[in-house]
Amino acid sequence: MSNPFAGKTIILGITGSIAAYKGADLASKLHQAGAVVDVVLTQGALHFIHPLTFQSVTSRKAYTDQDLWGGEGHVAHITLGRSADLIVVAPASASTISKLASGQADNLLVLAHLASDCPLLLAPAMDGGMYAHPATQANLELLRQRGAHTIGPASGHLASGLVGPGRMVEPLEILGFARYVLSRGGPLARKKIVVTAGGTQEPIDPVRFISNRSSGKQGFALAQAAIDAGADVTLITGPNALPTPGGAHRLEIHTAAEMLAVVLRETAGADALLMAAAVADFRPADFADQKIKKQSGFTQLNLAPTTDILAEVAARRTAGEGPRCVVGFAAESQDLLHNAQSKLQAKHLDMIVANDISAKDAGFEVDTNRVTLLFAGGRQETLPLLSKQEVADRIMEQIVQWLLA
Ligand code: CTP
Repeated sequence: MSNPFAGKTIILGITGSIAAYKGADLASKLHQAGAVVDVVLTQGALHFIHPLTFQSVTSRKAYTDQDLWGGEGHVAHITLGRSADLIVVAPASASTISKLASGQADNLLVLAHLASDCPLLLAPAMDGGMYAHPATQANLELLRQRGAHTIGPASGHLASGLVGPGRMVEPLEILGFARYVLSRGGPLARKKIVVTAGGTQEPIDPVRFISNRSSGKQGFALAQAAIDAGADVTLITGPNALPTPGGAHRLEIHTAAEMLAVVLRETAGADALLMAAAVADFRPADFADQKIKKQSGFTQLNLAPTTDILAEVAARRTAGEGPRCVVGFAAESQDLLHNAQSKLQAKHLDMIVANDISAKDAGFEVDTNRVTLLFAGGRQETLPLLSKQEVADRIMEQIVQWLLA
């Protein structure tokens, strides 16, 4: 998929909050991502930060209320509003949220919003009590009803000394959510894609488990690619610290049995399943309620097979249920294509992504992958060494073709 920020014009509204300094980081990140960033500061914002900071990171003029009546005359707000693909207000103060909700058009930011017809994304930042106040909540609700997106606030230490919800979420998270909002009109709009990622954990006792080396990176990259294509994405993942792609609905599981139940539930109304998770094939046959002590003489672990999730999904598809497209992954250390071909058939897949885990630059943990795509009809396509995101984008191009056919 192409970069969702490329060629997009984003108004970044900065309002009167100490989090305005984080707004400079966000402006920089949006600019680096490829967007044209028009920063508009309210009077309140000017108490915390100077427009020059934003001009330095966006390589463009940053606007203030002086521009309403100044150089470009009375149309600055119309030009700004009409050229915007997205308006992000981060930080969004209680006062600006109130003005946006009521249409109180007494500053450049609110005027530009009224003159625009693009999506609005708000990242509230204020004291916890102000955020919880019914007036603020009602204003946010009204804006959401009109289609505005909100992200946060996060909980933590507030400038007032209180601890609670009110902190602006981090710029990286806002960037990811802006990416989600910008891609909503993509080819997979209103399609539901379920992606699994990472390894499962099969418990032995309360402190030990069996797992594998899967990092989850390829699955998370697939979730991002599906978001970029406009899909509604459910990401079912084993425990890991990877950030959730903005807008993805993340469901965390531990065991293969939990993943089976969640995959069957989530794929019931889904259009595609991308099964990138490294699901355990075996689990300890017994779970010890208490920690197994060193002195216990424990030397043998009995294993029991887990259920093959893709086989269950295939059975449902045979019965006329389940997703239209199912993609599996085969991580092999020998006989790559032969093994992958067998799995493609045995699991009734539309496509299997085969990767040789013996290569140093492919497979587990690293950021690159070297894969061959095998299709149900017999076609094969070997991709060059690519980043996991590029591999995900290539797979998603195929999904788009199938779901739009
Ligand atoms: N898979 C699954 N349920 C399992 C195990 C694996 O749905 N219990 C899925 C994986 O998510 C992957 C595909 O099956 O998409 C192939 O997984 P892999 O581990 O390569 O194959 P297995 O069928 O487990 O065979 P083997 O381990 O013998 O290679």
